[in-house]
Amino acid sequence: MVKKAIYPGTFDPVTYGHLDIIKRAANIFDEVIVVIAHSEDKNPLFTPAERMRMVKEAIGDIDNVEVDDWKGLIVDYLNRVDARIIIRGLRMISDFEYEFQMALTNRKLNPQVETIYMMPHESYCYLSSKLIKEAASLGADISKFVPEKIAQVLKEKLKRHK
Ligand code: COA
Repeated sequence: MVKKAIYPGTFDPVTYGHLDIIKRAANIFDEVIVVIAHSEDKNPLFTPAERMRMVKEAIGDIDNVEVDDWKGLIVDYLNRVDARIIIRGLRMISDFEYEFQMALTNRKLNPQVETIYMMPHESYCYLSSKLIKEAASLGADISKFVPEKIAQVLKEKLKRHK
């Protein structure tokens, strides 16, 4: 049986913390699909297509990782690709309540679904896309948080967004 897992998130933009989880998941599962949720309620800076491009660029050529986007329920995406495992990163205890609610809601929506939590490397436990965007908009060097190419794209986007 092929062990397929999806790693959903907003990825606005993808960070070294997300990439760390993607690599860890790719070491455990036969197939990992990174799913860019449209997350319109979060009013993302980047379009789903831009976020997909950035994730693809950042992961390079890890054989067993694909990238896709999805507008609806995550449980519906799982059905579509015939998978039942959701990977999420757990950074700090403050993530726990939200993640607990999300995992149990998804389980209620589809009892076959299992959510598996992975801890990123401790260097990335404090990272968040929102803080990286804020720091970049105020001129900080964000090369420790995101790959160089993403830092450039983010800088350009923020310039146009002003
Ligand atoms: N490293 C760095 N940052 C991380 C991280 C990691 N390993 N893991 C999470 N984060 C950060 C993200 O950058 C993001 O930061 P931000 O809020 O400052 O932008 C934050 O943690 C949470 O982001 P993310 O992992 O992208 O999750 P999300 O809460 O935006 O997305 C979905 C949650 C998309 C999985 C969820 O909303 C969903 O499933 N949506 C689809 C609709 C659905 O099925 N709804 C019912 C769900 S019960």
